[in-house]
Amino acid sequence: MAQIEKVGVLGAGLMGHGIAQVAAEAGYAVVLRELDDATLARGVGKIEKQLARAVEKGRASQEDADAIRGRIEDTTDYGALAACDLVIEAITESLPLKLEMWKEVDGIVKPEAVFATNTSSLAVIDQAATTSRPTQFVGLHYFNPAQVMKLVEVVRCVTTSDAAFDAALEFARSEKKLAIPTQDKAGFIVNRLLVPYMLDAIRAYEEGVGSVQEIDEAMMAGAAHPMGPLTLADFVGLDTLGSICDVLFDEFRERRFARPPTLRKMLSAGWYGRKSGMGFYDYSGESPAPNPAF
Ligand code: CAA
Repeated sequence: MAQIEKVGVLGAGLMGHGIAQVAAEAGYAVVLRELDDATLARGVGKIEKQLARAVEKGRASQEDADAIRGRIEDTTDYGALAACDLVIEAITESLPLKLEMWKEVDGIVKPEAVFATNTSSLAVIDQAATTSRPTQFVGLHYFNPAQVMKLVEVVRCVTTSDAAFDAALEFARSEKKLAIPTQDKAGFIVNRLLVPYMLDAIRAYEEGVGSVQEIDEAMMAGAAHPMGPLTLADFVGLDTLGSICDVLFDEFRERRFARPPTLRKMLSAGWYGRKSGMGFYDYSGESPAPNPAF
């Protein structure tokens, strides 16, 4: 397997911009590709803001921050990915869109490159099988915010070769991440446990166990979690949570993975959590306030 030097990242959204930043910080040349200029500029803007903050806090010199930014080529052109040794997709969590994207990218990127998906729940094999290189396909699942969270789940699907899997493990470790190998089972390790926990918090609210804030504060103070489960659901994105639980429910047919009615109604209202400005909390002001609907 060729040495990884150049990394392509597809999607500059919530996950993609962070994945690109982490790779550039680890010294890789990065090509960050988005569909349109406005979304690309938003993703790059977030990276630049994080780098400026690192300089301000004395965690990086201005020179280092400039070098990291300089390693990221941002583009809307798939052609810029041609020479990448590894391509990680972090586009919308929709299988048809991912398959369409891989068909295009497969014909452009050099044949020896490894492909990876950052999917949080879809089967890796379904994407691998659509490319001409199913042996060179893995899951690389980062956590939000990718710049901060230590873990990367490295997912082997039935077709993944040892060489591609080892290259992916090595790559994640070179980014100073804790790389945990796992199998291609819906939700992998973390979401299989974390998603039913967030859904149970919503059910606890529905059953009147506590208010939104009480449930969050209880888990922070009683279990030392950095965020309560409903704040976390808003942080992950309620639309993302909804799609993950649908995949898990389809796979396992267990009630614990089913969408609670409150989540269904919030999604119908367009409340996707922090990203849309409204979820269990209202994010339109200086700091999050309770959503008056609850
Ligand atoms: N990007 C980059 N850096 C960020 C950041 C972001 N979006 N958010 C916070 N940080 C950095 C800050 O810069 C800060 O570093 P410095 O102090 O050195 O500047 C550090 O993280 C701590 O941030 P804050 O002081 O602002 O806030 P905090 O201490 O409350 O930490 C948090 C924020 C790291 C997000 C913390 O609340 C946390 O760990 N929450 C839980 C996150 C979690 O569980 N993520 C997994 C979600 S599940 C998932 O992602 C999988 C999936 O498939 C759905």
